[in-house]
Amino acid sequence: MKIAIVLGTRPEIIKMASVMDEIQNKGHELLLIHTGQHYDKEMSENFFLDLKLPKPNYNIHVGSGSHGKQTGKMMEGIEEVLLDEKPDIVLVQGDTNAVLAGALVAVKLHIPVGHVEAGLRSFDETMPEEINRLAADVSSKLYFVPTEESAINLAMEGISRKRIFVTGNTVVDACFRNLKISEERDVGEYEKSLADLDIDNMENIVTLTMHRAENVDFKDRLLNIIEALEELDDTNIIFPMHPRTKKTMENFGLFDRLNDLSHVHIIKPVGYLDFLLLTSKSTLILTDSGGLQEEAITLDVPALTLRYNTERPETVTAGGNILVGSDKEAILKYARKILDDEEFRNSMKNAKNPYGMGNAAELMIKIIEDADAADSLKLVAPDEVMASFTRKMKVIDEDISVKEYEDKNNALIKIAFEGEDVKFPFDDLNLKGKTIILEDYNN
Ligand code: UD1
Ligand code: UDP
Repeated sequence: MKIAIVLGTRPEIIKMASVMDEIQNKGHELLLIHTGQHYDKEMSENFFLDLKLPKPNYNIHVGSGSHGKQTGKMMEGIEEVLLDEKPDIVLVQGDTNAVLAGALVAVKLHIPVGHVEAGLRSFDETMPEEINRLAADVSSKLYFVPTEESAINLAMEGISRKRIFVTGNTVVDACFRNLKISEERDVGEYEKSLADLDIDNMENIVTLTMHRAENVDFKDRLLNIIEALEELDDTNIIFPMHPRTKKTMENFGLFDRLNDLSHVHIIKPVGYLDFLLLTSKSTLILTDSGGLQEEAITLDVPALTLRYNTERPETVTAGGNILVGSDKEAILKYARKILDDEEFRNSMKNAKNPYGMGNAAELMIKIIEDADAADSLKLVAPDEVMASFTRKMKVIDEDISVKEYEDKNNALIKIAFEGEDVKFPFDDLNLKGKTIILEDYNN
């Protein structure tokens, strides 16, 4: 098969690395399209070096700009490539503008889209990423979701369970594959920024990252966070600063205030191997990053998330992550608890990772191969349109699994409830005592 990947930013490169490996290991042709949304060496090229990834076949060089302009340019460039190259499927990952552009362009050319890390919802419609996630998820054919919670989000939006696959998150693939490599090499092999700090002999390392528009574009929120950081003066705060954050902090006149603190070390963004080493040696991660919330729980490091909502609620319910927003008191309260209270710290460290076993890419490529073999990747117009009255609700008394029920009744189960709890209708879920919503194909 010819499998295209559209990506454009740091986290997409990291989270698609194992998928690229798997595509090539299984003998498929990889068509890699970089939108050029991230273009600094330390936001893009270094990750290709660190993770030993193939050079993109195309770079659209969109650069920075407003959402409309950036996405529009991406769409134009991606369309040209897809028309020329005609891949069998296009994969996008996550929730950036590359995902929106890649998914929309592909589906309109009737090329099936596989959305990696589909189904996440923050339910915050002011977040650009939430809009991207929603738009990508109406354009996709296959949904690779990290957890049952994300699967339920999609099922509740009406998407057929047969297109939703719980694979875990490729971030676990990335962590597991690279942590050992990173431990066996010298810090800062590619970039000096971290090498100058002696992290092996530092105590109380706090890794800080921040780049979300809703934090770094607002002076009052930045100020609250900085005031909390000022008080954590018995820690070593290492802050690889995202270029967006550097720009806005300088514009607000806040950069020097933070940089002048002796316990705060602002450095350039570091490569993935260095960063893994840093996070794994940290006592605490303070972040508004999506990927880092996942990596924290994968690496058993307590996380405080500088947001008021998260599309990764599993990390919070598992006990590894606490939402502190930009609230100075909440940041300080929980940071102190993690630093000073060993029992509390250990309970956070021991939170169970909800994101799978690190074989997400392997599962995805197998699912794509199977769908292709079954000829179910094609986008086709339906012969007949089912009216809404074919949707029904039923209480099941029988000892029967989802798959058995569907085969016997010529139906598709959309979602199941056990009492008030929502259950994703996996093939082997036993339906006895459950209420189901289904599409009945007999009418
Ligand atoms: C983007 C994604 C965000 C993701 C993040 C990962 C969207 C809407 N946002 O946010 O979901 O979490 O990437 O890091 O897609 N800049 C540089 N050099 C670069 C890239 C950016 O200096 O290589 C600066 C520019 O001033 C630019 C600003 O950072 O205007 C923001 O970049 P942009 O790509 O628009 O969004 P991110 O904040 O990086
Ligand atoms: N990361 C990195 N170097 C850094 C900061 C982050 O390699 O200096 C990695 C981090 O391990 C994670 C990813 O970048 O895998 C997260 O990217 P980011 O926070 O930019 O985006 P988000 O996940 O919020 O979309």
